[in-house]
Amino acid sequence: MSKKAILTFDEKQYEMRIVEGSEGERAIDITELRAKTGLITLDQGYGNTGSCESAITFIDGEEGILRYRGIPIEDFETTPNFVEVAWLLIFGRLPTQKEYETFADELSEHAYLDENMRLHFESFPRTAPPMAILSAMINALSCFHPELHELETAASVEVAAARLISKIRTLAAYAYRHSQGQPVIYPDPALRYVPNFLHMMFSQPYKRYACSETVRNALNLILILHADHEQNCSTSTVRMVGSSQANLFASCAAGVCALWGPLHGGANVEVLRMLAQIHGGQITPKEYVELAKKKDKGARLMGFGHRVYKNFDPRAKMLGRIAGELLPQLGRHDPLLEIARGLEEIALEDPYFIERKLYPNVDFYSGIILRAIGIPIDMFTVMFAIGRLPGWIAQWWEQRQTQVNKIARPRQIYTGNTKSHYIPITERR
Ligand code: ACO
Repeated sequence: MSKKAILTFDEKQYEMRIVEGSEGERAIDITELRAKTGLITLDQGYGNTGSCESAITFIDGEEGILRYRGIPIEDFETTPNFVEVAWLLIFGRLPTQKEYETFADELSEHAYLDENMRLHFESFPRTAPPMAILSAMINALSCFHPELHELETAASVEVAAARLISKIRTLAAYAYRHSQGQPVIYPDPALRYVPNFLHMMFSQPYKRYACSETVRNALNLILILHADHEQNCSTSTVRMVGSSQANLFASCAAGVCALWGPLHGGANVEVLRMLAQIHGGQITPKEYVELAKKKDKGARLMGFGHRVYKNFDPRAKMLGRIAGELLPQLGRHDPLLEIARGLEEIALEDPYFIERKLYPNVDFYSGIILRAIGIPIDMFTVMFAIGRLPGWIAQWWEQRQTQVNKIARPRQIYTGNTKSHYIPITERR
């Protein structure tokens, strides 16, 4: 017998269908709620609202589990390959060798930007935030690829995905070079995804950047761990924009804007600023934790807390461990790692954080790894965007394929003036 929920309102009872996911998560289907009862639901911040059914990413926030298409993220650690994971997310299964090679070749082939795109960079001020440039340039890409505005088949999505995933890396590297007043370095088709990105970031006309295996693996893993996270703020933005049938470029450009905020992807920058402040001696870790607990001070312990995880974020667990292994491999010492570990210890023993189930999230340790690789702090959130792009594409494409492709348009409870009338300006006081 199918399960139902019963709502009693105004002495009447209404039955509502229960929808159950493949991992046992349950939802009340309220599609007909307003039509039958005149009521809507109010859920500010959407903490209790399922916006879609999705087969891409599974999170169990209570147990600290994250899986892409059923595969635990820990499985990707041994031979981290971001391109393979991108294909998995978008197309639903791991690619065969041939499918992988074809996709990787397409990424190499499409790394170039139209020369007119390159000229766009020159009109941005040197100090322009790279996330602003990234969003603007992803939108600008749509002007150069009108043939990719209508995507109806998996084959056409593959073409568009290869272009976007490849070019976002070139856009990011060019934005960085521009900020440094350095000449752009063109992509090298002989290099695979991560080494090619680092080449465009760090090679000089007189000296080529050599990417070690350690760095390549670390960056692949960082990108993989950011690749999707079901209906987070930026992904929901991509779906929201996509629901109006806006094209993939416009939807992803909007995702970049949502990711920029310090409560979302921008937190990786804030974590580093917080750690640097402690390192600089302006505040001790204990004082920072105390400050973060005071609601009126506007400070939070950055890189801590999560809407879904009420246990360790598995990505933070992996990144914390990997940071500890990577630094000695690269022959580096970073005092910020010890500060982060100390902060984590203090917070995890503090009743405020225990009661609220606040644990380190993905942003807590990622910056330390990015710093060790040589990525400047201004580019941290851009790195997150490069990693998240396959997830956005996968979610956009899944939405396009679903039968229930409705425009996303929430309602509201109006709290403004009741009916009043226009008063001519001469009669106003
Ligand atoms: N430091 C101090 N207190 C916190 C923190 C924090 N980092 N996070 C949450 N809290 C407190 C809140 O003040 C609130 O306390 P209250 O119940 O006494 O009012 C309680 O914990 C619940 O917090 P909410 O803000 O209601 O939780 P929500 O799910 O809306 O927010 C968020 C989640 C935005 C991630 C929040 O934990 C936060 O601001 N963290 C710091 C920023 C950050 O690291 N963002 C990255 C998140 S991961 C990502 O997007 C990639």
